This record gives sequence, structure tokens and C-alpha cells, in this order.
Amino acid sequence: MLTILGNGAIGNLLALQCQHLQIDYRIIARSESPTEIHCQFSQQSPQHQATVLQPVYQQVTDSIDSDLFILPLKAYQIIPAIQQYKPQLNPKVPLVLLHNGMVDHQHVLQLVPDNPIIIATTSYGAFKHQADGVNITGIGATQGGWLRNSEDNLYFQGLFERLLPPCNWHEDILQVLWRKLAVNSVINPLTAIHNIPNGKLAEPQYRSTIMAVSAEIATLMNRLDLPVTQNELVSNCMAIVEKTAANYSSMHQDVQHKRQTEIENISGYVVSQGEKLSVSTPANSSLLEQIRKIETYYK
Ligand SMILES: NC(=O)c1ccc[n+]([C@@H]2O[C@H](COP(=O)([O-])OP(=O)(O)OC[C@H]3O[C@@H](n4cnc5c(N)ncnc54)[C@H](OP(=O)(O)O)[C@@H]3O)[C@@H](O)[C@H]2O)c1
Repeated sequence: MLTILGNGAIGNLLALQCQHLQIDYRIIARSESPTEIHCQFSQQSPQHQATVLQPVYQQVTDSIDSDLFILPLKAYQIIPAIQQYKPQLNPKVPLVLLHNGMVDHQHVLQLVPDNPIIIATTSYGAFKHQADGVNITGIGATQGGWLRNSEDNLYFQGLFERLLPPCNWHEDILQVLWRKLAVNSVINPLTAIHNIPNGKLAEPQYRSTIMAVSAEIATLMNRLDLPVTQNELVSNCMAIVEKTAANYSSMHQDVQHKRQTEIENISGYVVSQGEKLSVSTPANSSLLEQIRKIETYYK
């Protein structure tokens, strides 16, 4: 049995996969708990047809004693959620932290000193247009790794990877997360600030900022023994800009809808790591401040 936290876009996608694969699951929802959720696929295929999810819920206060406890949450919701559910969480249950951006791993390890922990990130796409409707906008791939090992990593990996396949498992998940952070640190704030789709970042006026943001992150990564060059980070980023040229980033959409962004877990994380390691991060700091300012307008 799997426990999925929240009735969010990725949470509903996971529940839909469980329903499809006949995997027993429960959702813990703190807000609305619709009895039916209508699921649409942007790209239809025999496996991906419009369907109705009939979610199975458990009470917010019930104990969590399943095979996996999956937290498909905004990065800033992860630590508060672990604090909230820790009292009812069996210490043997592995957590799966499924989010963009970075959270403070030391804090997570301290909060749950015994539970095994998977960190995962996915390029699947989904959004909720209403409480009882979810659009699956992209079938992607997933990257995962262990922050704290379990007694049987392969068993738990097998359970999780059926939900968001294909899933690549990494010995050094931090390398993967930092490389993704580098891409997010460029694309998310710049597209949100300038109100542009990703592809516009190929225009020359953004080049110096992209170079500076990537240089700062490369310096930090090298300090953390995660070898990389500025050029590698810039090339990764520009490849994604090209591949997703017509897309609007999640931060762009959050700003357009006046929702809290994940900036504190993207540029904010880079700046805080810079302070910790005495690496100057003015380019990331500037993007952080600009997004913070935009957020204050709609608070
Ligand atoms: N959606 C995508 O296409 C996509 C793609 C790749 C990566 N990601 C990443 O995946 C993560 C999740 O994204 P998402 O789009 O699924 O976010 P989302 O739709 O906002 O889902 C998060 C859900 O978790 C709920 N939640 C938060 N804390 C909770 C708690 N303590 N107890 C119960 N429920 C709680 C939220 O409820 P409330 O509404 O009450 O806050 C919300 O329903 C993010 O880091 C995002 O960047 C998303």
C-alpha cells in the first residue's frame, strides 16, 4: 500500500497510476476531497485516455504505515509536512520527497532520524484546473536516489518506479539535483520576471545573466565536490530552453496566477549555500530579490 500526501497535480497523477495498475493507495488531503477527479491527457494514447479517478482517502490523523509515504509537494511544503505527519509515521516507512528545487536535507534527516528517504524529481507534467479536474500535460521521466538507504532499496525502487516510468536511479543524486537546480535557477526566475516563454531565453539580451548564474552555481558545486564547469551548465540549460521553447515555466505560471513561487528553494537555496561556503552569488541574489518583490505585490 502507498500513501500519497495531498490532492495536488502530481499527487493525482500518482493516484491515477495506482488506480490504473491496481496498486492499493491512500491519499491524505487537507483541503477538498472530491469523490471523483476527471483526468484529461494532452497527448492521448491507448494507455493515456481521459478517465475518472475515484480517489481513496485516509484521515489526516490516521497512522502512516504503508510501503512508501510519497510527498509530491511544493518544495516549501516539504519540511512543514514532515513536521506535521511525523507523530503518526512509522519509522520504518520510506519517504519519497518528490519536488523541484532544493530542501535542507540535513533538516529532513534530523526530523526523521530513522526513516529511509528517497529524493526524486520528475519531468512529467500535470496541472489542476479545478479541485475535481487534472490535466496530464506531459509523460516524462524521473530521476531518483537515496538520501538515507533502506534495508531493501531495490524493492522500494521497484514500487516507486512503476508510478512515473522510466525512472533512473543515481548513486549520487546530489549531482543530478544540483544540475537540475542550475537549469531551474536560470529558466524559472528569468521567464517569470520578463513574462516570456522558455524559448525567448535564447535571445542575446539574456546571455550575460545566464552565464553569471551558471558560473556561481558551478563554483558552489565544485566546492561541494560535485565537479562541473560553467560551460556544461550553460549548455544543459540552453538545450532545455530549446527543447521546451514554447512552454511557460512553473514559476512563470505561479507569478501569472499570483501563487507563491518556489524561488526560496531555487535561487534562495543557491544564495544560502553561497553564504554558507563563502561564495559570492550576486546574479542569483538579484533574481531572488526580483521575484520576492513581485510576490510582495500580490500578498
Ligand atoms: N505539476 C507539474 O507539472 C510538475 C512537474 C514537475 C515537477 N513538479 C514539482 O512537483 C512538486 C509538486 O507540484 P504540484 O504541481 O503537484 O503541486 P500542487 O498541485 O500545489 O500540489 C501540492 C499539494 O499538496 C498539498 N499539501 C501540501 N502540504 C500538505 C500537507 N501538509 N498535508 C496535506 N496536503 C498538503 C497541497 O494542498 P494545498 O492546495 O492545500 O496547499 C496541494 O494539493 C513541486 O515541487 C513542483 O515544482 C510539478
